[in-house]
Amino acid sequence: MKFFVDTADVGQIRELAATGLLDGVTTNPTLIARSGRNFLDVIAEICAIVPGPVSAEVVATEHEAMVAEAEKLTPIAPNITIKVPLTLDGLKTCKVLTDRGIMVNVTLCFTANQALLAAKAGATFISPFVGRHDDVSWDGMDLIEDIKTIYDNYNFETEILVASVRHPIHVLQAAKIGADVVTVPPDVIKKLFNHPLTDKGLESFLADWAKTGQSIV
Ligand code: G3P
Repeated sequence: MKFFVDTADVGQIRELAATGLLDGVTTNPTLIARSGRNFLDVIAEICAIVPGPVSAEVVATEHEAMVAEAEKLTPIAPNITIKVPLTLDGLKTCKVLTDRGIMVNVTLCFTANQALLAAKAGATFISPFVGRHDDVSWDGMDLIEDIKTIYDNYNFETEILVASVRHPIHVLQAAKIGADVVTVPPDVIKKLFNHPLTDKGLESFLADWAKTGQSIV
Protein backbone atom coordinates (compact mmCIF):
# COMPACT_ATOMS: atom_id res chain seq x y z
CA MET A 1 0.00 0.00 0.00
CA LYS A 2 1.29 3.46 -0.87
CA PHE A 3 1.43 6.21 1.76
CA PHE A 4 0.65 9.78 0.72
CA VAL A 5 0.66 12.65 3.18
CA ASP A 6 -2.38 14.91 3.23
CA THR A 7 -1.01 18.39 3.81
CA ALA A 8 0.48 21.49 2.15
CA ASP A 9 2.83 22.07 5.09
CA VAL A 10 6.25 21.87 3.42
CA GLY A 11 8.09 21.44 6.72
CA GLN A 12 6.01 18.38 7.61
CA ILE A 13 6.44 17.02 4.07
CA ARG A 14 10.23 17.40 4.21
CA GLU A 15 10.37 15.63 7.59
CA LEU A 16 8.31 12.68 6.36
CA ALA A 17 10.04 12.52 2.97
CA ALA A 18 13.33 12.03 4.83
CA THR A 19 12.01 8.70 6.18
CA GLY A 20 11.96 7.31 2.63
CA LEU A 21 8.43 6.03 3.30
CA LEU A 22 6.50 8.79 1.53
CA ASP A 23 5.01 7.89 -1.88
CA GLY A 24 3.12 11.09 -2.67
CA VAL A 25 1.20 14.12 -1.41
CA THR A 26 -2.40 15.27 -1.61
CA THR A 27 -3.56 18.82 -1.13
CA ASN A 28 -6.94 20.51 -1.44
CA PRO A 29 -8.10 24.15 -1.33
CA THR A 30 -8.54 24.03 2.46
CA LEU A 31 -5.00 22.72 2.99
CA ILE A 32 -3.59 25.32 0.60
CA ALA A 33 -5.44 28.10 2.43
CA ARG A 34 -4.12 26.73 5.74
CA SER A 35 -0.55 26.93 4.38
CA GLY A 36 -0.94 30.68 3.89
CA ARG A 37 1.17 30.46 0.73
CA ASN A 38 0.76 31.06 -3.00
CA PHE A 39 -0.83 27.95 -4.52
CA LEU A 40 1.50 27.54 -7.50
CA ASP A 41 4.60 28.23 -5.40
CA VAL A 42 3.81 25.71 -2.66
CA ILE A 43 2.82 23.02 -5.17
CA ALA A 44 6.10 23.56 -7.07
CA GLU A 45 8.07 23.25 -3.83
CA ILE A 46 6.21 20.07 -2.83
CA CYS A 47 6.81 18.52 -6.28
CA ALA A 48 10.53 19.18 -5.86
CA ILE A 49 10.58 17.45 -2.46
CA VAL A 50 8.47 14.35 -3.27
CA PRO A 51 8.97 12.61 -6.65
CA GLY A 52 5.68 10.70 -6.35
CA PRO A 53 2.23 12.01 -7.37
CA VAL A 54 1.35 15.43 -5.92
CA SER A 55 -2.35 16.31 -6.07
CA ALA A 56 -3.26 19.92 -6.85
CA GLU A 57 -7.00 20.64 -6.95
CA VAL A 58 -8.77 22.84 -9.47
CA VAL A 59 -11.24 25.34 -8.03
CA ALA A 60 -13.31 25.94 -11.16
CA THR A 61 -16.64 24.10 -11.34
CA GLU A 62 -17.26 24.24 -15.11
CA HIS A 63 -15.52 21.83 -17.47
CA GLU A 64 -13.79 24.35 -19.74
CA ALA A 65 -12.53 26.39 -16.79
CA MET A 66 -11.32 23.21 -15.04
CA VAL A 67 -9.30 22.26 -18.11
CA ALA A 68 -7.84 25.78 -18.29
CA GLU A 69 -6.75 25.58 -14.64
CA ALA A 70 -5.29 22.12 -15.21
CA GLU A 71 -3.31 23.47 -18.17
CA LYS A 72 -1.88 26.09 -15.82
CA LEU A 73 -0.97 23.50 -13.17
CA THR A 74 0.43 20.58 -15.17
CA PRO A 75 3.57 22.39 -16.45
CA ILE A 76 4.72 22.89 -12.85
CA ALA A 77 6.21 19.38 -12.64
CA PRO A 78 5.85 15.93 -14.20
CA ASN A 79 4.51 14.47 -10.94
CA ILE A 80 1.56 16.89 -10.76
CA THR A 81 -1.77 15.09 -10.35
CA ILE A 82 -4.83 17.17 -11.13
CA LYS A 83 -7.56 16.83 -8.51
CA VAL A 84 -11.13 17.31 -9.70
CA PRO A 85 -14.37 16.98 -7.72
CA LEU A 86 -16.73 14.08 -8.45
CA THR A 87 -19.23 16.09 -10.43
CA LEU A 88 -20.37 15.74 -14.05
CA ASP A 89 -17.98 18.51 -15.08
CA GLY A 90 -15.24 16.95 -12.98
CA LEU A 91 -15.67 13.60 -14.73
CA LYS A 92 -15.71 15.24 -18.17
CA THR A 93 -12.47 16.99 -17.25
CA CYS A 94 -11.01 13.76 -15.88
CA LYS A 95 -11.64 12.03 -19.22
CA VAL A 96 -10.06 14.87 -21.23
CA LEU A 97 -6.98 15.07 -19.00
CA THR A 98 -6.34 11.33 -18.69
CA ASP A 99 -6.72 11.00 -22.47
CA ARG A 100 -3.82 13.50 -22.64
CA GLY A 101 -1.77 11.32 -20.28
CA ILE A 102 -2.21 13.61 -17.27
CA MET A 103 -2.69 11.96 -13.85
CA VAL A 104 -6.09 12.76 -12.30
CA ASN A 105 -7.29 12.26 -8.73
CA VAL A 106 -11.10 12.38 -8.54
CA THR A 107 -12.00 13.62 -5.07
CA LEU A 108 -15.03 14.12 -2.80
CA CYS A 109 -16.25 10.59 -3.55
CA PHE A 110 -19.00 9.31 -1.21
CA THR A 111 -20.63 6.41 -3.07
CA ALA A 112 -19.48 3.34 -4.95
CA ASN A 113 -21.53 4.46 -7.96
CA GLN A 114 -19.52 7.69 -8.03
CA ALA A 115 -16.31 5.64 -7.90
CA LEU A 116 -17.59 3.46 -10.75
CA LEU A 117 -18.10 6.53 -12.93
CA ALA A 118 -14.65 7.88 -12.01
CA ALA A 119 -13.05 4.61 -13.12
CA LYS A 120 -14.98 4.75 -16.39
CA ALA A 121 -13.67 8.31 -16.83
CA GLY A 122 -10.16 6.93 -16.57
CA ALA A 123 -9.25 8.38 -13.19
CA THR A 124 -5.74 7.61 -12.01
CA PHE A 125 -6.91 7.78 -8.40
CA ILE A 126 -10.32 7.85 -6.71
CA SER A 127 -10.50 9.55 -3.30
CA PRO A 128 -13.38 8.23 -1.17
CA PHE A 129 -13.68 10.28 2.05
CA VAL A 130 -14.01 7.81 4.92
CA GLY A 131 -13.77 10.23 7.86
CA ARG A 132 -16.60 12.41 6.64
CA HIS A 133 -18.82 9.33 6.33
CA ASP A 134 -17.92 8.37 9.91
CA ASP A 135 -18.86 11.91 10.95
CA VAL A 136 -22.46 11.18 9.89
CA SER A 137 -22.60 7.70 11.49
CA TRP A 138 -22.00 5.76 8.28
CA ASP A 139 -19.00 3.39 8.26
CA GLY A 140 -16.72 4.89 5.63
CA MET A 141 -14.74 1.67 5.29
CA ASP A 142 -17.86 -0.06 3.92
CA LEU A 143 -17.49 2.30 0.96
CA ILE A 144 -13.90 1.21 0.44
CA GLU A 145 -14.96 -2.45 0.47
CA ASP A 146 -17.70 -1.78 -2.11
CA ILE A 147 -15.33 0.12 -4.39
CA LYS A 148 -12.68 -2.60 -4.10
CA THR A 149 -15.26 -5.25 -5.06
CA ILE A 150 -16.46 -3.28 -8.08
CA TYR A 151 -12.96 -2.38 -9.26
CA ASP A 152 -11.83 -6.00 -8.94
CA ASN A 153 -14.93 -7.18 -10.85
CA TYR A 154 -13.92 -5.14 -13.88
CA ASN A 155 -10.13 -4.96 -13.45
CA PHE A 156 -10.26 -1.17 -13.36
CA GLU A 157 -6.79 0.38 -13.18
CA THR A 158 -7.99 3.35 -11.11
CA GLU A 159 -6.21 3.26 -7.75
CA ILE A 160 -8.30 3.46 -4.56
CA LEU A 161 -6.81 6.36 -2.58
CA VAL A 162 -8.45 6.32 0.86
CA ALA A 163 -8.86 9.92 2.02
CA SER A 164 -10.29 11.81 4.99
CA VAL A 165 -8.30 9.47 7.21
CA ARG A 166 -8.66 10.44 10.86
CA HIS A 167 -6.80 7.75 12.85
CA PRO A 168 -4.54 4.66 12.55
CA ILE A 169 -7.50 2.24 12.42
CA HIS A 170 -8.54 3.78 9.10
CA VAL A 171 -5.06 2.93 7.77
CA LEU A 172 -5.23 -0.63 9.15
CA GLN A 173 -8.68 -1.25 7.70
CA ALA A 174 -7.70 0.22 4.34
CA ALA A 175 -4.70 -2.12 4.19
CA LYS A 176 -6.82 -5.17 5.16
CA ILE A 177 -9.31 -4.34 2.42
CA GLY A 178 -6.49 -3.91 -0.10
CA ALA A 179 -6.75 -0.22 -0.94
CA ASP A 180 -3.91 0.98 -3.17
CA VAL A 181 -3.12 4.21 -1.32
CA VAL A 182 -3.95 6.00 1.89
CA THR A 183 -3.47 9.74 2.22
CA VAL A 184 -2.86 10.54 5.85
CA PRO A 185 -2.50 13.78 7.83
CA PRO A 186 1.03 14.15 9.28
CA ASP A 187 -0.10 13.71 12.89
CA VAL A 188 -1.82 10.41 12.04
CA ILE A 189 1.25 9.11 10.18
CA LYS A 190 3.33 9.76 13.29
CA LYS A 191 0.84 7.79 15.39
CA LEU A 192 1.52 4.81 13.11
CA PHE A 193 5.17 4.77 14.18
CA ASN A 194 4.55 5.13 17.89
CA HIS A 195 3.76 2.44 20.47
CA PRO A 196 4.45 2.67 24.24
CA LEU A 197 5.63 -0.97 24.39
CA THR A 198 8.18 -0.23 21.66
CA ASP A 199 9.48 2.70 23.69
CA LYS A 200 9.48 0.64 26.91
CA GLY A 201 11.24 -2.28 25.26
CA LEU A 202 13.91 -0.06 23.69
CA GLU A 203 14.53 1.62 27.03
CA SER A 204 14.99 -1.78 28.64
CA PHE A 205 17.36 -3.02 25.90
CA LEU A 206 19.51 0.10 26.19
CA ALA A 207 19.65 -0.08 29.97
CA ASP A 208 20.86 -3.70 29.82
CA TRP A 209 23.32 -2.84 27.03
CA ALA A 210 24.78 -0.02 29.13
CA LYS A 211 25.64 -2.58 31.79
CA THR A 212 27.97 -4.38 29.36
CA GLY A 213 30.19 -1.31 29.12
CA GLN A 214 30.62 -2.06 25.43
CA SER A 215 30.18 0.12 22.35
CA ILE A 216 29.68 -1.01 18.78
CA VAL A 217 31.79 1.70 17.15
O1 G3P B 1 -7.71 14.70 0.92
C1 G3P B 1 -8.98 14.92 1.47
C2 G3P B 1 -8.84 15.23 2.93
O2 G3P B 1 -7.99 16.33 3.10
C3 G3P B 1 -10.17 15.53 3.59
O3 G3P B 1 -9.98 15.25 4.94
O4 G3P B 1 -10.49 15.42 7.37
O5 G3P B 1 -11.14 17.30 5.79
O6 G3P B 1 -12.35 15.10 5.72
P1 G3P B 1 -11.04 15.80 6.02
